[in-house]
Amino acid sequence: MLGAAEPLLDIRQLNVSYENLQVLWDVTLHVHEGEIVTILGANGAGKTTLVQSIFGLTRASRGSVLFRGDDITGRTPDIIVRKGLSLVPEKRELFPKMTVLENLDLGGYALNTGAVDRTDLYDLFPVLQERESQLAGTLSGGEQQMLAIARALMARPSLLVLDEPSLGLSPLLVTTVLDSIQKLNHNGLTILLVEQNVQHALEISHRAYILENGRVTREGSASDLLSDNDIRAAYLGI
Ligand SMILES: Nc1ncnc2c1ncn2[C@@H]1O[C@H](COP(=O)(O)OP(=O)(O)OP(=O)(O)O)[C@@H](O)[C@H]1O
Ligand SMILES: [Mg+2]
Repeated sequence: MLGAAEPLLDIRQLNVSYENLQVLWDVTLHVHEGEIVTILGANGAGKTTLVQSIFGLTRASRGSVLFRGDDITGRTPDIIVRKGLSLVPEKRELFPKMTVLENLDLGGYALNTGAVDRTDLYDLFPVLQERESQLAGTLSGGEQQMLAIARALMARPSLLVLDEPSLGLSPLLVTTVLDSIQKLNHNGLTILLVEQNVQHALEISHRAYILENGRVTREGSASDLLSDNDIRAAYLGI
């Protein structure tokens, strides 16, 4: 069990470089059980690099990532998923020539239990049940994003990390996707969300961090950031 004050995810002074280009500088960020925490930042700020670092997909030159107090820095993605973290990647990374059902089942493979229950996922996204046998590549953009989220949930995570889930979606679908994230959180799932849809993301979040050129420049409660004039001018254009 976690102590009351111990975060579920605890990133400490993380530094990450691609060859000679340092992208993350002493990034420190935490997520408590039950929270939705959002990372905001412009294109190229390092948001995806940060998310990939949690999953062992980049190598940190300094700093650490702890999950439930365990140091998972540099562990392989399969081990990290088995510990209870799951990622909805920026580019969705579905298998377009496989059916919806096959894509979902791939999301559950790390569990290795054989028995699979998709009922809750179909309750969240009924269209996926209707399209079970359709090839993933033939789904609409919104349906593909729902499938990517549902696939990540098949691993039964305790922390779901989503990298710009609303990217490229119509306003109506942005609402559908962000509402579903809020619903998952109400049902007990902890969420780390990367979003450029600042207003909507802050409205569903508890706290947020702002990443600029690879450094955390602001952090605070979502309501404080939403009412901050500098943030409104920089990210909401108002
Ligand atoms: N595999 C890579 N090799 C070299 N440089 C990379 C690599 N991936 C990202 N970068 C660089 O690292 C910086 C941060 O990129 P990253 O994708 O993490 O930003 P981001 O905040 O997710 O941006 P976006 O909002 O466009 O998704 C950028 O300058 C990018 O060009
Ligand atoms: Mg990105």
